[in-house]
Formats: sequence, C-alpha cells, structure tokens
Amino acid sequence: MSRTAEPKSPLVIFDTTLRDGEQSPGASMTQDEKVRIAKMLEKMQVDVIEAGFAMASQGDFESVKAVAEAVKDSTICSLSRALDKDIERAAEALAPAEQGRIHTFIATSPIHMQYKLQMSPDQVVEQAVRAVTKARNLVADVEFSCEDAGRSELDFLCRIVEAAIQAGARTINIPDTVGYAIPDQFGDLIRQLIERVPNSDQAIFSVHCHNDLGLAVANSLAAVQQGARQVECTINGLGERAGNAALEEIVMAVRTRQDQLAVETRIDTRHIVPTSRLVSNVTGFAVQPNKAIVGKNAFAHESGIHQDGILKHRETYEIMSAEDVGWQTNAIVLGKHSGRNAFRARLEELGINFASEQELLEAFTLFKQLADKKHEIFDEDLQALVTDTRAAAQADHYRLVTVDVASRTGETPVAQVVMSVEGHEVSGQSAGSGPVDAVFKAIEQQVASGAELELYSVNAITSGTDSQGEVTVRLQRGGRIVNGLGADTDIVIASAKAYINALNALQSRAERTHPQSEGV
Ligand code: KIV
Ligand code: ZN
Repeated sequence: MSRTAEPKSPLVIFDTTLRDGEQSPGASMTQDEKVRIAKMLEKMQVDVIEAGFAMASQGDFESVKAVAEAVKDSTICSLSRALDKDIERAAEALAPAEQGRIHTFIATSPIHMQYKLQMSPDQVVEQAVRAVTKARNLVADVEFSCEDAGRSELDFLCRIVEAAIQAGARTINIPDTVGYAIPDQFGDLIRQLIERVPNSDQAIFSVHCHNDLGLAVANSLAAVQQGARQVECTINGLGERAGNAALEEIVMAVRTRQDQLAVETRIDTRHIVPTSRLVSNVTGFAVQPNKAIVGKNAFAHESGIHQDGILKHRETYEIMSAEDVGWQTNAIVLGKHSGRNAFRARLEELGINFASEQELLEAFTLFKQLADKKHEIFDEDLQALVTDTRAAAQADHYRLVTVDVASRTGETPVAQVVMSVEGHEVSGQSAGSGPVDAVFKAIEQQVASGAELELYSVNAITSGTDSQGEVTVRLQRGGRIVNGLGADTDIVIASAKAYINALNALQSRAERTHPQSEGV
C-alpha cells in the first residue's frame, strides 16, 4: 500500500537585508545598490522584501519607492513605527508597488515600555490598534510586530496580538529583538500564542530572530516546528549587532530536512550564492570562509578520506549539492573577445541592468580594459567592476585621478595622489610605512577629513595572482560609520579607490532616524 506524503504548508520568506541588514554599522547601501539586491531577491522568489524604513530619511523613502517600482513579483514592505506620520510615509513610498505591505511595530516588553516608550501597557495596546487601523486604511496587507517579544510577558503578548488581529493585521511578527531566546523556549512561546489567542487563525505568525547567542536560525526553525509560517531573515545573516537569521541557512534547512519540517518555500536556491556575493560586495562585509552554505569552504573537502568518499559516492560527506545553491566554482564567463551582448546578458543574469546604452558602453569599456590585464573574467569580477564603477559615477565630491607609488626594499615608500575635489584638481605627496599607508596619507593631506580608519581589508576576488583585489575601507567620524569599496588588479589603486569612496559616503549620507531609537 503506498503512503501519500503529508501536504506541506508554505513558509513565507521575508527578507530584511535592505532594512535590518542595513542597520549593521557601515552596511548602508545606495538606492541603486538596493534595487540591484532587490532584483536578485525577486529572482530568487523571495515572498516579501522589506525595502527599508521610509521615514528614516528622504534617501530611504526614495529607495523604498525605487524598489517598489522595480520589483513586481515579490511583496514590497516598508517598516514604520506605530506613528501616523511613519505609516503615511510608508504608504506613500509603497504606492508604486504591485503588492505593498506596511510593517508597523511597537515595543511590548516591560523594560522597553517603561524606559524607552515611557508608556503603560494599556497605552501601548491602544497605540498598536490605532497604528494597525491606520495602516489598514491605506493598504490591505499589514504586519504588526511586538518589539522585544522575546522578553515580553505571555499574557500581555496574547492581549496585544489579539487586538492587532482584530484591527486588521494579517501577519503577526514575534521578534527576539535582543537575541535572548533558546530554541525550545521560543518554539513554546509561538505554540502558546497560537493556541491562546482566540483569533490566531486569522493571521500568519512570523518570527524575527537576532543572533546575539548564535541561535537565530535554531530559534526560527523551532518556531516553524510550532506553527510559525513566516521567517524574517537576511542574506549572509547581516543585521544589527550579531545579525539576523541567515536566509540561506533557513531555506536550505527546510529543503534538506523535509523529514522534520512540515513546510516548504518557493525559493529558487540556485540564486543564493550570487546574491550572497552581491550583498557582500556592496556592503563590504566579507563572508567568513566557514559560513554555512555561502562560505568559500562550505563545500570544500580538504582531507583525503573525505575526498575519497565524495569521489566514490557524493552523499558520504555532502548533504546538499554545491550547484543547488549556485556555486559554479570559478566558471569562466567572459574573456577578451566577448562582445557587448554577451557582457550585457551575463550581467542581467547577475541582476545588473543598465539605465542607458551609454552606461552599458562605459561599463563595457572598463570590462575590456580589465580583460586586457586579466584574460579570464569571472562573475565575481563583473560584480566588483559594476559596484566599483557605479560608486565612482555617484561620487560627486571626491574623484581619484592618478596614483603614483615608489616602493623599494629598504626604502620608505612614497605616494603621490592626484584627485579632484568638487571638480578642482589637487595633488598631495606623502611617505608612509607601506605603499597603502602612503596613499591614504597623501589623500588625507588634501582633504583633512578628520575620519578614523576603522577597518582596512583586502580580498582576492578570484584565484591566481592576476586576480582583482577588492578593498574595503571603513571610516568613522562623529559616530557615523561608512564603508568604501574599490576593486582593481593593482591593490594600491583599489585601496585608493576604496578610501575615496568611503570619503564620498561620509560626505553625502544624510542623517537618518533609527527605527528603534525613539519612542512613540
Ligand atoms: O529586531 C526587531 O525587533 C526589529 C523589529 C523592528 C521588527 O527589527
Ligand atoms: Zn531586527
């Protein structure tokens, strides 16, 4: 007698890389970068993309709007505090969306209500209901979150969740805002909420776990086993402090352990690695080599015993296939003789579209220059080339003109940097402890930014000594942290580009309101 498998419930994948991910210090992204990532997420068939917090600044508003215009196959969401002005702004930004969602939230833990909001529990419930009602008058799809639910009292959570559903919220999100939960306990919280809230059948229960104890994915999966049907997560686990649950780990756990989980996602997993690379490339947050699914070593087998086993039968040591998550190790994609159409087609597959033929032509010229220096061009090279050239194109304040470095054994390196400052060419010269130090000092001689260098890292984009070096420079000034990226086959030039891109970011990024920094 054949047994039919239990039908699986859909698990909604809600990606918040562009909102919570961007709240990582230094991970801020431009509008163009956000649209590029959103297009990749759409391709991956992410159900909901949280594109930002529209109220944070004019730039954030424009970014949510641009994502809502560009993406049609995923729901686009904007975060908003439980405030009329935030909700109105979110609705305005989401107007072009085919499917728009307002995600409104208020803190529900005793510590947040007393010290941050300075409101009584009754006032918090009232504010939540008012916010959900207001949002429902503007869009059909409303999500309500109980910030710091992980440290909230169960009775109060039941009360506010019931009221929010009554007011029209269709998704109820239970965040472990400070990453305090333990899997069994968090799963139990979700089970009890679903059991005890009388109208729980009228909403999808969602979880949003932070990784302060390294348990974000485990807590999210425990919640799914107890009935949660939406998981909020980010690419590479990017997010506030220790980050959020990693999308790639949630999706692959669900796919690989169908025997344990009664859910399935719509995700096209082959886009996971290219998207991870794009996010890393745009934010300058490198992926650790041993990171599950997307780390360089995730599918590498070093020991002879493992290699032997893999060759005899892959499943001896592998529970997933590298190709299923989009690893195409160093597949040569383009070369010196590739034409413009091949270049355009490959970039489109990587989620990169050009606004005009002129922009395509400029990128193609740079590609040809790169192909002259490096005859095998990989996807990673193309992504770095586009990120680098777009950052340079948007750099309206500082621009690199030339770098000249003299470095010899036993002698102090000296650098001369010519750059343009608001259209005027200036030049500086400095010695340094190494060529990069000399270049940074020569730049600072001209700009006197007063910024502190918080991080300098170089990463070889591909293998081989002709690889492009991808440099990240993190600068801090007055508490504001920005990243600059630069790529070149010459790492000294890549470093100069990264430093100048970081200076431009410091110059241009306006003040923003942090969604969780203020009470209502
Ligand atoms: O961590 C958190 O509580 C959040 C909410 C705003 C959903 O990011
Ligand atoms: Zn969060």
